[in-house]
Amino acid sequence: MKLDTTYMGLALKNPIIAGASPLTASTDSIKRLEDAGAAAIVLHSIFEEQINHEAHEIDHFLFKGGESYAEAVGYFPDMELSNLESEHYLEEISTLKSSLSIPLIASLNGVSKGGWIEYAGKLQEAGADGLELNITYIPTDVDLDGRSIEKLYLDALETVLQTVSIPVSVKMNAFFSAPANMAKQFSDMGAKALVLFDRPVQVDIDLEELTAIQTIHPSISADLSESLRWSALLYKKVAASLCASTGVYTHEDVLKAMMSGADAVQMVSALLQHGESHITDVLSDLVAWMEEKEYLSIEQMKGSISLHHTVNPAAYQRANYMRILTEYRY
Ligand SMILES: Cc1cc2nc3c(=O)[nH]c(=O)nc-3n(C[C@H](O)[C@H](O)[C@H](O)COP(=O)(O)O)c2cc1C
Repeated sequence: MKLDTTYMGLALKNPIIAGASPLTASTDSIKRLEDAGAAAIVLHSIFEEQINHEAHEIDHFLFKGGESYAEAVGYFPDMELSNLESEHYLEEISTLKSSLSIPLIASLNGVSKGGWIEYAGKLQEAGADGLELNITYIPTDVDLDGRSIEKLYLDALETVLQTVSIPVSVKMNAFFSAPANMAKQFSDMGAKALVLFDRPVQVDIDLEELTAIQTIHPSISADLSESLRWSALLYKKVAASLCASTGVYTHEDVLKAMMSGADAVQMVSALLQHGESHITDVLSDLVAWMEEKEYLSIEQMKGSISLHHTVNPAAYQRANYMRILTEYRY
């Protein structure tokens, strides 16, 4: 049974990547993820604010909207911001590279065009096999139009691509007016992979404290829907590889992602809930399913239910929206 795949130019032994999370912030759990069968690791992110908060040049035009990061340091509420963090991150990469036999992808999270992007070069020097760029910007400014937002993303990617020669992926959000066009622009610019999609930190209101708060709820398998849609729509339309992310829990989720057109998946919530060994279980269920259905390889099923290969392309498009509503029974 051939489970191997190619993702952002990296040869992976199977399609399951451990996505950025606290599990990929500790050497011990990263080793456990590798032992459980993870095909690659995306390190927890290093945030723009952690890299060089003194030197970074924030574009005031874009930032006058205030607290615009969807994620910022909300993942690490108690983390002290200091340049030590960025040094530590580089050391982490060097150490891990000497002990891991699977690809290690660094994760850079930020939005401005400041000096932090130069840090991408240091990630490469430290030995990262690839770089995942997570540019998540909440456009709070009512005077800022869509084109300006898109330019912000494209400029950041362009700067990173000029800095490094390792493959770069963009962890996209699904909120662009034209996600397919953005995906194509990222790909045409040179992104080797698109992660579909990021799951920004959620916002809530604390009724006791009467204040807005940030929170992280785990995803569920049903959240995979948008990744399936956009993998199916983008399959063979962009040169970049596609990675389904958000809501990947089971071997069925992996199979659906591959069939929609993804080259790999990222798992986070499932691993936080079930532990690193969950990957072993999913891989064994995957092999059992493929044997039963007589599939010989992952490659064979890729894109088999993408937009142009499914008997029901309308399912991926708005055209079916009216029908499902008229047929809906409760
Ligand atoms: C506790 C936690 C920490 C995370 N940290 C990061 C991070 O450092 N960088 C990043 O790009 N995404 C981060 N994410 C987002 C995940 O990588 C992933 O995109 C998201 O959880 C959706 O995948 P899932 O449905 O498998 O959880 C984090 C998610 C969680 C739940």
